[in-house]
Amino acid sequence: MAGARAAGRPPSVPGRGQGFLWGVAGAAYQTEGGNVASDLWVMEHTKPSIFKDPSGDAVDSYHRVFDDIALTASLGFNTYRFSIEWSRIEPERGQVSRAALAYYRRVLEAIRAHGMLPMVTFVHFTSPRWFAAAGGFETREGIAPYVDYCRLLTRELGDLIGMATTFNEPNLGALLAWSPAIRPLRPLIAGARQLAAKAIGAEQFAPPMLGSAQVQQPIMIEAHDEACAAVRAESGGRIPIGVTLALNEERGDPRNIARKHSTAMLPWLQADGDWVGVQNYTWTEVGEDTDLPLPADVEMTQMGYPYAPESLAAVVRTVAAHWNKPIYVTENGVSSEDDSRRVAFIDRALEGLAGCLRDGIDLRGYVHWSLLDNWEWVHGFGPRFGLVAVDRSTFARTPKPSAAHLGRIARAGWAAR
Ligand code: NOJ
Repeated sequence: MAGARAAGRPPSVPGRGQGFLWGVAGAAYQTEGGNVASDLWVMEHTKPSIFKDPSGDAVDSYHRVFDDIALTASLGFNTYRFSIEWSRIEPERGQVSRAALAYYRRVLEAIRAHGMLPMVTFVHFTSPRWFAAAGGFETREGIAPYVDYCRLLTRELGDLIGMATTFNEPNLGALLAWSPAIRPLRPLIAGARQLAAKAIGAEQFAPPMLGSAQVQQPIMIEAHDEACAAVRAESGGRIPIGVTLALNEERGDPRNIARKHSTAMLPWLQADGDWVGVQNYTWTEVGEDTDLPLPADVEMTQMGYPYAPESLAAVVRTVAAHWNKPIYVTENGVSSEDDSRRVAFIDRALEGLAGCLRDGIDLRGYVHWSLLDNWEWVHGFGPRFGLVAVDRSTFARTPKPSAAHLGRIARAGWAAR
């Protein structure tokens, strides 16, 4: 990336002021259906399966994506985040599918034609079978194919991509130990991402904005030393797990109280690229060495973690205190059968973000997870994150009240709040 522009020049990334990005997000494997060349397809069909439901047709977005894009625009959004399925682009090592490239080009064109900015993830938790079978990101040999793939997408599609992230939630390894694509050795994934960033920077049609979409889960922690206390003060009481890990690692503290939540501290700290993506859903309360029990009256989401819309602003504040880069919320949402809880969640999360903006934080976008109810990995189709419901047998889409609600806010912008 650095090669693409003069050192020290501030990146020109979208979304300041009136141009704030309001979007919805999804990911290929969770929505497209039929990704049979993917490593996850193999895992899903290996007995005994750890997946609650097979992904199967997912929500058939492979065929319906153009309607989904039109729906998103008609609701009032100006940004559409999706991922490209590597196994469709390169079903066998070195065999590039021109048809798949043409398909994703049509998707990008459709997003642009509707006046929206395409935000593209290159790897969202899945990789081709051949890549995983050869060791995936757990071997040094995995780096080159990944970098080649990132370079290919950039060369072929970079002219239409608005913002790119080469790897979704690179710091999530420990949480999702089931996925070959994200069970990496930390240094390797960090190194691979940096090489990919460099390779992309050298391409003629480099995506203008390369960023890093990181999962951030704030935790309440008993401040047990000065460093923690300082971060805690900065972040209004909650410490993103990544920060906690860094502090522990710096101190050589073997306890690493939050290690079970997130292994990949390195990429979190490096945050290569022009912007930082924040992905947040909840927070956790921990003591010195363990999680603290939840109070009995805490509302839980379908995912089994606390309903905590306020956690988003806490993370944004902490990220802003540590990096001098534009921030985008690239994912935030709630799994609930009760859509009125989603509407309330959105309002409370946005209230917090409004406070961040008032305090001068360089926040430039809010992308909600998700447009559609979809396939939530090991949890199958149970959790409902969507602004739009999907009939499981006809795939018909029905917008929920929350879709109109957030769409109205997107149209009116912050000034109307
Ligand atoms: C983060 C992931 O990027 C996405 O794939 C997942 O569905 C959501 N969190 C909700 O759990």
